[in-house]
Amino acid sequence: MQKSLGPLPGGRPLATQNAGVKATRAGINLGAEITGIDLTKPVSEAQLAAVQAALVDNELIIFRDQNISSQNLIDFGRRFDELTVHPFAPHEKEAPVLIKFRNDETTPPFGTDCWHSDETFRAEPPMATILVAKEVPAVGGDTIFASMTAAYDGLSDRMQNFVSGLEAVNDFKPFKALFDNSLENRMKLQKFELDYPPQVHPVVRVHPVSGRKVLFVNPQFTIAIKGMDERESRSLLDTLFQQALIPEVQFRHHWAPHTIAMWDNRSTQHYAVHDYYPQRRYMERVTIKGGPVTGVPRADATTLKRGKYVPLGGADSHGGHKPH
Ligand code: SIN
Repeated sequence: MQKSLGPLPGGRPLATQNAGVKATRAGINLGAEITGIDLTKPVSEAQLAAVQAALVDNELIIFRDQNISSQNLIDFGRRFDELTVHPFAPHEKEAPVLIKFRNDETTPPFGTDCWHSDETFRAEPPMATILVAKEVPAVGGDTIFASMTAAYDGLSDRMQNFVSGLEAVNDFKPFKALFDNSLENRMKLQKFELDYPPQVHPVVRVHPVSGRKVLFVNPQFTIAIKGMDERESRSLLDTLFQQALIPEVQFRHHWAPHTIAMWDNRSTQHYAVHDYYPQRRYMERVTIKGGPVTGVPRADATTLKRGKYVPLGGADSHGGHKPH
């Protein structure tokens, strides 16, 4: 059962407007439509600040009818910070920061139909991702997003306390399938393993701008909870992974050509629905560098016991039964 799923979490307004950039809420827990900005033209500092604020507030922002070039996309992304090069995603040598997801009858989509935050196998996972639809299928090919702040809020107090301060191991395991058993590929994989060793991140992170708590484990890259035995770790992760599957924390985005989705990778997960093959779908993406991941401190067990545990039948302040 979800807690705190009010009309707009935190009493937020349905729309905000700054520097002419309007963000109109489209989903209860995440998602807003952005209007009042043309991304084929230079973006002013004030517009950029408005987009940054809208991203943090809404976690996912959608821009429609933006017929931008690949260079426009790269330039827009660079206004936020450096762009990163994905070690395994398809790109061209001339513009390695630009990922091209070009799927058709001969190239089925690969690997994005699993809930994930982008690249949590990195020591500093990206802060945000921008994805542009160039060609979309007649039906299907949606992307589903989940607010991992709402996912955290929806855990019981006891589970929130239990997972606070835990750490999880993240690994690029799904991409290992890209390497066959040839000597050349085994050597390549070995090099990637050295360059991208497993990373430990907090299970609950604090968003560096909003200060909100976020559930930061995902089934694509999170492989274990540190310090637990494998069975415990697996069942806890399975429980936590379920949080992104709750419809109330999700927003399903249906693509049209020239639509842009930008998501805050610190507070969301997403799942690309692979239902459209063999239709064509062509998307371009840039990924913006992130910073260190800060966790919440370990829960104070003493407070938990005093504040929350009420023995069956009631108790006095010393834990004994009240006299009748
Ligand atoms: C991604 O996971 O970055 C791709 C999402 C999509 O293709 O919808």
